[in-house]
Order: sequence, then structure tokens, then C-alpha cells
Amino acid sequence: FSPARAADSGAGPVVIAHRGASAYAPENTLAAVDKAAELGVEWVENDVQRTKDGELVVLHDDSLQRTTDVEEVFPDRAPWKVKDFTAAEIARLDAGSWFDPAYAGARVPTLEQFVHRVERYDQKLLLELKNPQLYPGIERQTLKVLSNEGWLDREHVRNRLIVQSFGADSVRTVHELKPAVKTGFLGTPPVADLPSYAAFTDQINPSYGSLTADYVDAVHALRGAHGKRLEVFTWTVNDAENARRVDGYGVDGIITNTPDVVQEAVDG
Ligand code: G3P
Ligand code: CA
Repeated sequence: FSPARAADSGAGPVVIAHRGASAYAPENTLAAVDKAAELGVEWVENDVQRTKDGELVVLHDDSLQRTTDVEEVFPDRAPWKVKDFTAAEIARLDAGSWFDPAYAGARVPTLEQFVHRVERYDQKLLLELKNPQLYPGIERQTLKVLSNEGWLDREHVRNRLIVQSFGADSVRTVHELKPAVKTGFLGTPPVADLPSYAAFTDQINPSYGSLTADYVDAVHALRGAHGKRLEVFTWTVNDAENARRVDGYGVDGIITNTPDVVQEAVDG
């Protein structure tokens, strides 16, 4: 049994720009999407959280401290949690200067803004629900935004959208709310538990460090269970050697800060 890859056509794994092309532009900003497009990357990953007044925004950490100038703008608001700031307050922050002064003025995008930018380039979106335990109902809310943006139509759902999370309950909820939307579970469940995950997720997305060919085969062996095509997108691979290693295991996708490096490695 030799499972075919998701990318099919023998083309190797798909390459996903992690938080946008985040080695080259500030993570999770529109500039990082632009950079991914410039590099010809088909897929973009992002992290979605919620503000105090209920807006969905794109940011990795649960605090604004590392990737914005929030400490300067709001010095008395430590520990600067996303959930304690309004969307208007977050919109004032500079999310680019910490990375490089050339990106001064980059903003923390709303989910809508991020999706618009991905759509502009006809890219595909690997959307992560980050820290879902902090944001009750974020699954339904995210699906609503995606629907409003036209991202739950047949074409997007079939080819251009995956919703993933470290939170198994969150992934299950997305699957139950909209079974047509592809989902991914971030982590490496024991092989014996994989069949129960296959009930609600289309992907098992493990960290690359301890990933083995046997594990990838174990996920692929479940193909057909619950009518799904079980895939593996691994993260976060930023060098050619590891990209070639996981490519050799038959992974379906490689999530990377350096999509140009990984694409070249798997093409070569
Ligand atoms: O897409 C996988 C990866 O993003 C998970 O880890 O911490 O970078 O969100 P993290
Ligand atoms: Ca992420």
C-alpha cells in the first residue's frame, strides 16, 4: 500500500507559508501574505484570536507584547493580552517595526483583512484557531466571517480552506458545525488513538522534530475512514535537510517560515 499524496500529480508536498512568509516579513501581517505571494507560495497559515470587543484578529501570541509596540503605546496595560484590548486599540499598534524598521506601520490585521489579502492572490488558507479555550464560540464566529467573505462556497471549501487547532474540541466543533470544511488537528496523537481523531479531522499535523515515516504511514492508512482523505502537514521546517527528510516520509504538506528554501529542497 503506497498512499498517493494530497498534492497528487507526483508533485511532492504542498508548501505552506507559516504566519505568511514570516522569515522575510513580520508574521501574521498583510506584508507577510504579500511576501508569500511574491515567492509564489500557494498556501498561507495564520493564527486567529479575539479582541475584548469581539473582533477576530490575526496574531500568534496571546499577548501583543512580542510582535507590536503595545508596551510603548499602552505602558500600564501589562501583560497586554489580546482579549483585554479592543479592536480600535489594536489597530493603533505597529506590528512591523519589531521585525524590521522597513515594516514600520504594518498592522495587526482583522481576519477579514487577512482573508481579503489571501483572496487577492488566489491563495489558500490554513487557518489556526489559536488558544480557543480563551475564546468561547470562536469556531462558530470564524465560520461566520469565512461565510460572509465567500469562503464557504464549494470551491473554497473543496480546495482552498483548512481550519486547524491544537484544541481537539475546537476541531471537533468546526467539523460538527460545517462538516464540509476540512479540519486539521495540531499534534501527534498516539497511533492507537488515530481512528478516533479520523472521526472529526481530515489532517493530523505534527511537529517535524520527532516525526517518522511510520507515523505518516499510520495516518495515511486511515484513508477512507469516515470518507476522509487523511493528510499530514508538518511544522515548522525551515531548512533543506529536514524538508527533504519529511518529504521522504510522504508528508502532504510542509509548513515553513522559509517557503522558498523548502520548495527548492522538495523540487530538487
Ligand atoms: O501551523 C502549525 C504551527 O503554526 C503550529 O504552531 O505555535 O506556530 O502556531 P504555532
Ligand atoms: Ca500557527
